[in-house]
Amino acid sequence: MADVQARRPARPGVDPVRLAALEVLKSVRVDDAYTNLVLPSVLRDFGLSGRDAAFATELVSGTIRRRGTYDAILAACIDRPVSKVEAKVLDAMRLGCHQLLSMRVPAHAAISTTVDLVRAKGSSGAGGFANAVLRRVAQQDLAAWLGQVAPDPRVAPTRYASIAYSHPRWVVDELRSAVGAEELFDLLAADNEPPRVTLVARPGRSTRDELPGEPTPYSPFGSVLAGGDPGEVAAVAGGRAGVQDEGSQLVAVVMAAATVEGRDERWLDLCAGPGGKAALLAALAAQRGAGLVASERQEHRAGLVRRSLRGADGVTGIVTADGTVPPYRAASFDRVLVDAPCTGLGALRRRPEARWRRRADDLLGLVLLQRRLVSAAIGLVRPGGVVLYATCSPVLSETRGVVGSVLETHPDVRLEDAVPLLPGVPRCAGPVPGTIQLWPHRHGTDAMFMALLRRTG
Ligand SMILES: C[S@@+](CC[C@H](N)C(=O)[O-])C[C@H]1O[C@@H](n2cnc3c(N)ncnc32)[C@H](O)[C@@H]1O
Repeated sequence: MADVQARRPARPGVDPVRLAALEVLKSVRVDDAYTNLVLPSVLRDFGLSGRDAAFATELVSGTIRRRGTYDAILAACIDRPVSKVEAKVLDAMRLGCHQLLSMRVPAHAAISTTVDLVRAKGSSGAGGFANAVLRRVAQQDLAAWLGQVAPDPRVAPTRYASIAYSHPRWVVDELRSAVGAEELFDLLAADNEPPRVTLVARPGRSTRDELPGEPTPYSPFGSVLAGGDPGEVAAVAGGRAGVQDEGSQLVAVVMAAATVEGRDERWLDLCAGPGGKAALLAALAAQRGAGLVASERQEHRAGLVRRSLRGADGVTGIVTADGTVPPYRAASFDRVLVDAPCTGLGALRRRPEARWRRRADDLLGLVLLQRRLVSAAIGLVRPGGVVLYATCSPVLSETRGVVGSVLETHPDVRLEDAVPLLPGVPRCAGPVPGTIQLWPHRHGTDAMFMALLRRTG
């Protein structure tokens, strides 16, 4: 009964699946919500599950990812700038574009349901407008539209990539600098594919054999789900396993595989929230009698770390602290992970709105913070111990730039060759010799970067 009362009343003539999708787009646009967080609660509100929930999820995520492409197509069908169209009408038309051009929904259904949405949310005049625009959109398929609205890639490569692969131009430029022109389009295409759900078996608490799905190619702990709700997997529900991208698993693998001379008892995760890597690290630490301190600046994210580490062995502390002024004794840790706050441009597959929300202006502040966090970590690790610097971004100023400046300012630190620590992973060399760079289009992981630094003096 309570469940039924919680549901939104259906509006006559309006498809609840599309209405739910429109609600999510509005939350993302108006409240800066994260698609992945708001979607489940809207699906619940509308009482959607199974195929309806899957359809709404693809509709929302695909529309947000491909917004750049669809806006260029809409611009060709509208006689005023797209930015002048009322935001909720534009949202509905973007949903219509995704159904028409990428979801094989029959044109009459895509158009009529969009017009119903616009009428339910706006005026009948706007309904007529949306009808006329989407009829034009429906006149040709996506490839034909791209031929019309995207420039020749040889003449204007960035603008072409930005429209054809729906990424902001500054992001295209950053990714080209990082991956090279030859692989750029493969990378951008991979960013537009929703990643498959990957599980991690936390060693000592569960095994990969307990998990459904196919073993991950590179992480010894991962399993790729073919479908279904990961929350229904017993080991996940019990916290003995979790949901974690294979690239993130490999960060913990590298951190644990680095050799340290002498004592190996005290591990620190300096930027631990929400706690995915900390949970795997704690399990690995426990297996060799070491203990992990998980440290995170934001209180609510420290709370997520607590939840992630519930019931785990190998945890010696969960602390809310600013990693740039850490409350720990100098030179007291044997291994420190700095999984730094970053632009996240290596994880665009899993965060549909991230490419539109990040700004080029964010970079400088992030790079300065990254340098301060790595410097603090170097002060916390004892001579002979290691700091692993990781980002889920391949942007060169966050990878090569940070490593270069840290090496310049810390004569007591040496960059080690981390590539041999991932022996089965092909073509993972990073932009500085010895560093690691994973890629969605090459490895099927987020674009994680890793640099292994050893404190010498
Ligand atoms: C990339 S996320 C870490 C992800 C985490 N390692 C995991 O695997 O779940 C970066 C984290 O750093 C935190 N952070 C940002 N500034 C920080 C600071 N000055 N000190 C410590 N943590 C910070 C953010 O709140 C965020 O939770």
